[in-house]
Amino acid sequence: MARIAVTGGTGFVGLHTGRALRQAGHQLRLLGRGRRRGPRPQGVDFLRVDVTTGDGLLDALRGCDAVLHLVAVIRERGAQTFDRVNRAGAENVAQAARQAGIGHIVHLSAIGVDPDPYYGYLASKWAGEMAVRGSSVPHTVLRPSLLFGPGDGFFTTLTRLIRLNPVIPIVGNGRALFQPLAVADLSRIVVDCIARGSSNDIHEVGGPDHLTYEEIIDIIRAELGLRRRKVHVPVAAMLPIAVLFDRLLANPPVTPGQLRLLKKNNITRIDAVPRQFGFEPLSFADNCSYLQEY
Ligand SMILES: NC(=O)c1ccc[n+]([C@@H]2O[C@H](COP(=O)([O-])OP(=O)(O)OC[C@H]3O[C@@H](n4cnc5c(N)ncnc54)[C@H](OP(=O)(O)O)[C@@H]3O)[C@@H](O)[C@H]2O)c1
Repeated sequence: MARIAVTGGTGFVGLHTGRALRQAGHQLRLLGRGRRRGPRPQGVDFLRVDVTTGDGLLDALRGCDAVLHLVAVIRERGAQTFDRVNRAGAENVAQAARQAGIGHIVHLSAIGVDPDPYYGYLASKWAGEMAVRGSSVPHTVLRPSLLFGPGDGFFTTLTRLIRLNPVIPIVGNGRALFQPLAVADLSRIVVDCIARGSSNDIHEVGGPDHLTYEEIIDIIRAELGLRRRKVHVPVAAMLPIAVLFDRLLANPPVTPGQLRLLKKNNITRIDAVPRQFGFEPLSFADNCSYLQEY
């Protein structure tokens, strides 16, 4: 049994991985700003921290054996910028972990991390990953492709888009590839990484299929039993709309940065999970019935 602090433990990935870690017998501390609504797991400590300033971090990490660092944003809002949350946040967590004598950081990065500033999210995730890898704290880096499961952001947003619109826009040529991984499988992997201990390795992980954006739309359409026409829209035509959404809406369906990400492959080896973790991951097509709830 280990004592594990989970930064971002109240988010989508945090709730799923937290459940799996508890079932594996670990004792958890969930860390976050306390802004996230929704039920928190009972009997689990929650501590208020802000990774951008480092407030509360050292006290929250003291006495823990490992940290699962999950906090990141995929869209910028006010003070929650890519640089402050995804880069500086990881730097602050690594620094506090060193001061607290933590033996293992499991850092959630992302496939495609890239110093190229054209992809603001991926560049900041790259810098965050480098902060953890460059620290003296033993670590394991996980780089997943898109994650699916109850409460996800990407697939549930597409589901609402398909439900609400008679015509579905396919951004760009729709040929960029994704490799959806079930959040339940990522949770198994996290439990395994904690059991193995720090390796200072980087693991790219994805599900059993390489799917285009258009194929993902087709799978969701079939799951919902909805007939919808698809229309290819060039990214250049969608960009001004996304810029407008970004300026006017508190919670826009898509940001200009997310549109750019839709043009970039987000895949690794098809056998990445069996090869590195010894089990067959779940396919999105056979495991997306949860989308009926959205
Ligand atoms: N979802 C995917 O498909 C996917 C794919 C690849 C990689 N990832 C990576 O997986 C990780 C988790 O993503 P997610 O989808 O679970 O995100 P999420 O649902 O948005 O959760 C983010 C969590 O971070 C906390 N948080 C946000 N800002 C904070 C701050 N300044 N200080 C402390 N806590 C803060 C939030 O709680 P409060 O708002 O209450 O603070 C929440 O608990 C991220 O590193 C992401 O890059 C996700």
